[in-house]
Amino acid sequence: MAEVKRYTVTAALPYANGGIHLGHLAGAYIPPDIYVRYRRLNGDDVLFICGSDEHGVPITLGARKEGITPQQFVNKYHELMKKSFEAFGISFDIYSRTSNKVHHETAQQFFLDLYNKGVFTEETSLQYYDEQEKMFLADRYIQGTCPNCGYEKAYGDQCERCGTSLSPKDLKNPVSVLSGLPPVLKETKHWYLPLQNFEPWLREWILDGHKEDWKTNVYGQCKSWLDSGLQPRAMTRDLEWGVKVPLPGTEGKVLYVWFDAPIGYISATKELRPDDWEKYWKNKDTQLIHFIGKDNIVFHCIIFPSILHAHGEYILPANVPANEFLNLEGDKLSTSRNWAVWLHEYLNDFPNKQDELRYVLTSILPETSDSDFSWKGYQTAVNSELVSILGNFVNRTLVLTKKYFDGKIPEPGELTAADDACIRAMEEAPKKIGAAIESFRMREALTELMNLARLGNKYLADNEPWKVIATDEKRVKTVLFLSLNITAYLAALSEPFLPFSSEKIYGMLKLERCKWNEVTGFLLEPHHHLGETKLLFEKMEDEPVIAQINKLQAIKPKTTAGTNTESEKKSPIANPKPESVSYDDFAKLDLRVGTIEAAVKVAKADKLLQLKVNLGSEVRTIVSGIAEHFTPESLVGKQVCVVANLAPRKIKGIESRGMILTAQDESGALKLLQPSEQVSNGSVVS
Ligand code: MF3
Ligand code: ZN
Repeated sequence: MAEVKRYTVTAALPYANGGIHLGHLAGAYIPPDIYVRYRRLNGDDVLFICGSDEHGVPITLGARKEGITPQQFVNKYHELMKKSFEAFGISFDIYSRTSNKVHHETAQQFFLDLYNKGVFTEETSLQYYDEQEKMFLADRYIQGTCPNCGYEKAYGDQCERCGTSLSPKDLKNPVSVLSGLPPVLKETKHWYLPLQNFEPWLREWILDGHKEDWKTNVYGQCKSWLDSGLQPRAMTRDLEWGVKVPLPGTEGKVLYVWFDAPIGYISATKELRPDDWEKYWKNKDTQLIHFIGKDNIVFHCIIFPSILHAHGEYILPANVPANEFLNLEGDKLSTSRNWAVWLHEYLNDFPNKQDELRYVLTSILPETSDSDFSWKGYQTAVNSELVSILGNFVNRTLVLTKKYFDGKIPEPGELTAADDACIRAMEEAPKKIGAAIESFRMREALTELMNLARLGNKYLADNEPWKVIATDEKRVKTVLFLSLNITAYLAALSEPFLPFSSEKIYGMLKLERCKWNEVTGFLLEPHHHLGETKLLFEKMEDEPVIAQINKLQAIKPKTTAGTNTESEKKSPIANPKPESVSYDDFAKLDLRVGTIEAAVKVAKADKLLQLKVNLGSEVRTIVSGIAEHFTPESLVGKQVCVVANLAPRKIKGIESRGMILTAQDESGALKLLQPSEQVSNGSVVS
């Protein structure tokens, strides 16, 4: 028997300040889920650890905004995230949280261990303080004028207009976000991790030790951090919410969230395995693997390993397979603008379609560069891959077996050379898929899985059992025997990717679950009776897909009054707030002047008008949500500005191709945006 290997697999602890969206899933949750499911099927000893990250300034700010305590705030989002992960089939062994007692104690002990070893340096510095609120102000709690672009609402850590990263003292005319008053500078003491001292060791460990086995994006980011020189970093903060600093006379100070959060992986392991947690963190033969998104690289590759190394008793990550980012419909995901697809909403809108989303996201994982999720792409992948390739093969095989052999696995006859070739290809599949998963190439692994289904389809197409049955039943027995065994392989090998479908196929075959290394030879023997056949995947129709697209469009900033018609339910998570966009993003818009030639009310829709707008080279139909503000007659002949390259969408059955721009003031009155003088139709607005 092969030796059992031990793996501690972690997925980044998401902040408990919102839901889980597709970007999270593609970055840090689907890849490890595939990985651990595969490892478990290999009989390895695996722990899959995650939980909510419940400290940090975004939490306190969020709670303040919602007018509840930080604890109430994290309770709410912890539950939401935990439930959606579970429903989606992410198979954590534990989903813990950093506000619990075990974690506070573990993080404090860790801090004390380093403190007693003399790892930290102490420094007193001047920090901004709000005299009215009687507290020191975290960077995000200070706003002022950006020294770079003059934006007046820049934050103490970054200007959201020009993107410059700042420190609070760079801001001109700083004010406290809490009281609105200018803060004063006041002395405060903190404990720093002198990262510069770890640099030689980090260089050797990462740059020399992991050049071959870490992903190039991860290695490259580490190298650039190291090359630009590491600075001491404060491991404590002046805040109320967090893990209290375990030293006398440190009232009002907590551990830096990036100190306590990764220790959360350890606390969660303790909670899950109080008696033998140590072997998952201290045994040299355990492989520690951190799955994260790229914005977490420095914390998992440089800061946390330095902390573990300084402590001395812990193993270091063997690998940190960070993913790049997932975009949504061509735009950067943004929780502040609510430009996201939320998992809890997906699960609500598409009950029992977890595997469809798992499939689509796996097929576009941002493994080497950013990638894009679109609803059209989702629909195409479901219909032309899951339904037409995998579902179709399994379904045809089972239906034909029912029809010709009453659902009993037939006895194969003599095998042809083509049959042998097919068997060899089938037996290669577990090796190919396994090798790709082990090297964190999940997209390739999924492609190999689908290639097995393609092999099956081709085998059926080449052998045409539905024709041959008329002349040579014996041959059909062989063909279906082989096809059924390919189906059994699909049941076993799809488990890491499509756990719900895998279970369904097992059920239809009435086959026991097998381990990865048992997937060899024939898994199904003649005379075995099949279970009931069900459809694996349903075709994804246009309607639900369009509904999702509309839901997203309704979220786009309000300048687009023309099509903001649906009052779609907003995610409970955040209020959309305009964010700065690059010039390039702006330049993607094709804005033109056109003349309204006709306007009519849309039946059964109080707010909608159907317009014909002459754009010079063509006359467009545009459905606009302005009927409460303008009579149709008053619009005819008017020139307006049009977003001409907006993706077409159906509104009340009418295809709308573009959007007209309007302006609305506090009174709610809506005005058309018009050129100050008549221009020719089709003129470019810039
Ligand atoms: N909460 C962080 C984020 O969402 C990730 C924390 S990972 C951990 O970016 F290691 F600190 F837990
Ligand atoms: Zn700026």
